[in-house]
Amino acid sequence: MTHLELMKDVNFVGYIDFEVRNFHGYSTHKGSSYNAYIVKSGNKTVLIDTVKRPYFEYYLKNIKDVCDPKEIDYLIINHVEMDHSGSFPLLLKHLPNAEIIASTRGVDNLRLHFHEEVESEVFDKIRAVKEGDTLDIGNGKKFAFVPIPMIHWPDSMVSFMIDENGKNILFSNDAFGQHLATSMRWDDENDISEIMWEAEKYYANILLHLSGLIAKVLPKVGALPIDIICPSHGVCWRTHIGKIVEAYKKWSAGEIDGKSVLIVYDTMWGSTEKIAKELFKEISHRGITVKRFRLTNADYSDVITEAMKAKAILVGSPTLNNGLYPLVAEYLSYQRGLKPMNKIGMAFGSYGWGGGAVKEIIKELKTTGIDVLDEKIELKFVPRPEDLDFKSIIDKLVEKMG
Ligand code: FEO
Repeated sequence: MTHLELMKDVNFVGYIDFEVRNFHGYSTHKGSSYNAYIVKSGNKTVLIDTVKRPYFEYYLKNIKDVCDPKEIDYLIINHVEMDHSGSFPLLLKHLPNAEIIASTRGVDNLRLHFHEEVESEVFDKIRAVKEGDTLDIGNGKKFAFVPIPMIHWPDSMVSFMIDENGKNILFSNDAFGQHLATSMRWDDENDISEIMWEAEKYYANILLHLSGLIAKVLPKVGALPIDIICPSHGVCWRTHIGKIVEAYKKWSAGEIDGKSVLIVYDTMWGSTEKIAKELFKEISHRGITVKRFRLTNADYSDVITEAMKAKAILVGSPTLNNGLYPLVAEYLSYQRGLKPMNKIGMAFGSYGWGGGAVKEIIKELKTTGIDVLDEKIELKFVPRPEDLDFKSIIDKLVEKMG
């Protein structure tokens, strides 16, 4: 047994990235990992996925700690995004005997990514698999390939290994992942609330806008007799599989627990913040959960995670140059791309003379598909105490929340 063994015949050969703090715009406060696995059956050896290119040498060393790379019979590429395929061109010369397997779209995307470094005939020889295709590696172990387009890219697939003599493992790639660096590879070896928060943040920042497609694919994945899920980021699931699959069902359906409100805003000279604080007070006095984030001090990857969970999103901005304050514009653009579902929205803000920010917020919220309250709050310069009476507007918000 090596330090890389997850269980008999299954090894982790990826890279745990404690350094990364930004993953294509998503804040990864706790790092991430690029998981790759080697499965042996006695007859055959299978390598699943590669890692981000800067970590190729670590990955190759891990592979060599598990087996002679020449013994690898198959390389499965579940997804072509560079965090999983980046080492592909560097790896090829070490795997002279491996057949490469990818989805049909995966073959196309490998070619489109690595045509400058890899000979065309390598792509020509890749086995393109579709739903229902299998790979028998002997001794009761058999892979079934299931395309899961748009979780996370059109080329994505999962590889499900049935083991007649052991555990059935779903190598799920991006699905069920978390951006979390930890030396402990299993869910039950870590704090489950931390893992679930990171899984939720991952869903909100990466998969949320794909929820319609995910909801369609989930029953197919959920029907598999899964004992273990090995994703491509974060820890593997063996104890809390039901919890993460149920969470994906809930998130992809846009289900929300009860009434809760998110207030997100920025402020220039404090007036918009006065409104935000008064809204917070009025809502929390009614016993409704409410969270308040000033964007100057908040991270929008965290804020969008809260937005996914909230029933109502109240967005505030002062007017700057007849439009939105920059961080509010940035957040709204991020939110528009991710399309949180089943939300009620409301706009508020302050202005000096012409206004404009509140109108822009309403436009952005509507474009995002949020059901915007007819009422809005738009106050000139510094609000007077009597301007800050929001009882009736919050009554309407609460009524709309149901
Ligand atoms: Fe972790 Fe879509 O790559």
